[in-house]
Amino acid sequence: MDYVYGPGKNHLFVPGPVNIPDQVIRAMNRNNEDYRSPAIPALTKNLLEDVKKIFKTTTGTPFLFPTTGTGAWESALTNTLSPGDRIVSFLIGQFSLLWIDQQQRLNFNVDVVESEWGRGADLDVLESKIASDRSHSIKAICIVHNETATGVTNNMAKVRQILDEYRHPALFLVDGVSSICALDFRMDEWGVDVALTGSQKALSLPTGIGIVCASPKALEAAKSSRSVRVFFDWADYLKYYKLGTCWPYTPSIHLLYGLRAALDLIFEEGLENVLERHKRLGKATRLAVEAWGLKNCTQKEEWYSDTVTAILVPPHIDSAEVVRRGWKRYNLSLGLGLNKVAGKAFRIGHLGHLNELQLLGCLAGVEMILRDVGYPVELGSGVAAASAYLRNVTPMIPSRI
Ligand SMILES: Cc1ncc(COP(=O)(O)O)c(C=O)c1O
Repeated sequence: MDYVYGPGKNHLFVPGPVNIPDQVIRAMNRNNEDYRSPAIPALTKNLLEDVKKIFKTTTGTPFLFPTTGTGAWESALTNTLSPGDRIVSFLIGQFSLLWIDQQQRLNFNVDVVESEWGRGADLDVLESKIASDRSHSIKAICIVHNETATGVTNNMAKVRQILDEYRHPALFLVDGVSSICALDFRMDEWGVDVALTGSQKALSLPTGIGIVCASPKALEAAKSSRSVRVFFDWADYLKYYKLGTCWPYTPSIHLLYGLRAALDLIFEEGLENVLERHKRLGKATRLAVEAWGLKNCTQKEEWYSDTVTAILVPPHIDSAEVVRRGWKRYNLSLGLGLNKVAGKAFRIGHLGHLNELQLLGCLAGVEMILRDVGYPVELGSGVAAASAYLRNVTPMIPSRI
């Protein structure tokens, strides 16, 4: 069946792709142009400087690949590592699973540290592996900052602390796909060697740019790594950065203009205000879940995610039916439970271009759906808990004070 429009706006609450601001849509509504003219390199150079701000790096080198998060993963791995290299990687949900699958298919020697889905990466195991690795056979730590499938945020500062404590030189590669620009992310302070994200998440753009940021140590590693790479080779980009034309092949011109508009909006709101907004939306969602008497898939508060909440439903309910109902009846798009939590959890994405009242609309929708599928929630209970909190903490809109 073709896409069928519902009345009003679709309430898009999947944890990416997210809502695109009108300003970004308008910025992309333009003709193609000659990317070899001076205009595109000038635009690109500004973007490269400005994306560093959202990674919180001054020493990193960014690359704007025409790709998705999956391509950004591949870029991070193939530029820094050689086939057979030992990597410690944490399996805690569907996206860490997919990254590990990619690592294995690229012929790295992956030392998988698995945790129950709903728990964070086991950093005690990391510590014992690092402590006992006197020969420095571990070449990289690969970790998903925010596991989008379960709503689990891992502690990146702690990973850096462990590496430093044992003076271990392993590269620190971080998937920030559902965190960067929404959760606190500090590339330089945490000594992250490669950080990456995708345009369709907190940046609120269409899918199609994979942003990869490499530390000086990662750039150095790229000089000797022996993985085959072509499309994602940093060396080609660096060559064209030097030449001043920036691009080894045709860039996604429209997305670059979109990225310009998206960054302008983020800087207008203020990056720290953006992060605070995500904290509010995350907390409000969790208060609603609690008021409904449902369980967060995330088992401990220290791992709660401010960009996505995975909600467990009672065993007699199929969480996929919650998502189907939302779409069919209320024009609400929720995230499915994936793989091990399929049928058991549904997800509310609360990231990107989103505000408090939009979230309350989603929560009201979820309450109606829950009643529809046979869960006896008191209508308004989650909305009341969330709005009571939000009314107290929502600041004036920074640009309107
Ligand atoms: C944490 C995380 N990493 C990687 C990916 C893969 O990104 P993409 O689907 O853009 O290839 C996703 C997608 O949702 C994700 O949530």
